[in-house]
Amino acid sequence: MASAILQSIPSESRPGRFGIYGGRYVPETLVAALDELEREYAVAKADPAFQAELADLLHNYAGRPTPLYFAKRLTESLGGAKIYLKREDLLHTGAHKINNALGQGLLARRMGKRRVIAETGAGQHGVATATVCALLGMECVIYMGEVDMARQELNVLRMRLLGAEVRGVSAGSKTLKDAISEAMCDWVTTVRTTHYLLGSALGAHPYPTMVRDFHRCISIEMKQQIVEREGRLPAAVIACVGGGSNAIGAFYEFLADRHVRLIGVEAGGRGTVLGEHAVRFAGGLPGVLQGTYSYVLQDENGQIAQTHSVSAGLDYASIGPEHAALHDTGRAEYVSQDDAAALDAVARLARTEGILPALESAHAVAEAIRIAPNMPAHDILVVNLSGRGDKDMGILARELRLQGV
Ligand SMILES: Cc1ncc(COP(=O)(O)O)c(C=O)c1O
Repeated sequence: MASAILQSIPSESRPGRFGIYGGRYVPETLVAALDELEREYAVAKADPAFQAELADLLHNYAGRPTPLYFAKRLTESLGGAKIYLKREDLLHTGAHKINNALGQGLLARRMGKRRVIAETGAGQHGVATATVCALLGMECVIYMGEVDMARQELNVLRMRLLGAEVRGVSAGSKTLKDAISEAMCDWVTTVRTTHYLLGSALGAHPYPTMVRDFHRCISIEMKQQIVEREGRLPAAVIACVGGGSNAIGAFYEFLADRHVRLIGVEAGGRGTVLGEHAVRFAGGLPGVLQGTYSYVLQDENGQIAQTHSVSAGLDYASIGPEHAALHDTGRAEYVSQDDAAALDAVARLARTEGILPALESAHAVAEAIRIAPNMPAHDILVVNLSGRGDKDMGILARELRLQGV
C-alpha cells in the first residue's frame, strides 16, 4: 500500500484534497496509472480539440442542454416555493451518468487504452459506459453486485445488448461497494491496457475532481436557464447523493453564491439503525474506503457497515470527498429521505407532472415536497432530476402495490 501515514496528513494544498478529505490511498501498482491519468486529463482539459469533441457528443449524441422545466402542477399542489426540474432524465441512456462516461471514454481513447472497466450500482453508469464503449469501439467489462443485478435486471440486459460483459459480484453485500472492489482488483492486473471508468465523484485522486468537471455542465446550464426564466438565482438546489456525482455537478457553479442553499439528499432507507440506511453524514465517521478519505459508515471496529436503500444508486457506505468538505464547512446541507418518502415522491411526480423519476432522483423530489410548502411563493427550488424511472418499474410495481397506490 502507498504510505498511509504520509497521505493522511491533512493539507488543503495537496492536489486532490478537499479540505482534509480526498487524497489517494491505493496499492503501489496503481500509483503510476493514476499519475498518468492525472497528467493526461490535465492536457486533455486544456486541449480545445478534446473539449470540442466532447461538447459535440454531449449536444448531438447525449442531448445537452437538458431542459429546465417548471413543475407547475406539483408546485400548485404543494403551495409555497416554485419547483423547477433539471431534466437530466431526458439524456441518452436515461441519467446524468452519460456526461462523465463520454468524457472519460474520450480520455481513455486518447490514452490508447482499448479496454474499459467500470462498476455500477443502479446500472445507469454501466449502461452509459457500455454505450460509450460501443460508440468508440472499445472492449467493455462491467462489475455489478448480484443484489443490484437482480433489482436492476433491465439495465443488465441493456448492457449486454450493447456488447458489454457484465460480471456479477457475489462478495460482501453484493452491491456497489463490492463492485468497486472487484473493478479495482481487475485494474491492478490490467492497468497497462485498461482504463477504469469510475462512475461517481469518488475514489482516488484525480477521479473526484475529474468526474465533477465532467458533470459541471449541469450547474452551468442550470444557472443560465434559471436566470433567463426568472431573472434571479434559486433559493436552493436539491440533488440526491450516492457517491455524489450528480449533486456536485448541480452544486458546483453555485458554490460562490452563498445565498443559494445547496441541499444533498442521502438515502434514509428503512430506519436509523446502522445497516438499514446509507446516511453517511448522520451515521458515518471519517475513514478511508476505496482510495479516498471521506465519511464512511462503519462499526466500532472500523469495519465497513452494510447499507440499505430501495434505490441501488444511493446504497453505498461512503460519499465523495468534496461533499465531506462541503458538509464540514457548512456550505452544503445534507439531509435524508427514506424509502417510503422516495416511493411517495415517484407516485406524486408521476401523477402531477407525467414524469417518472428514478428512485435515486425521487429522494431529491421528496425533499422538495417536504420543504416547498413552508417557503414563500417567490422562492425557487431547483431539483436535479438525475434519471428516469424506467429501470425501476419492477421495484415500483411491487412496492407501490404493497402500499395500495
Ligand atoms: C439516476 C441516478 N441518480 C443518482 C445516482 C447516484 O449517483 P451519484 O451520487 O454519483 O449521482 C445514480 C447511481 O447509479 C443514478 O442512477
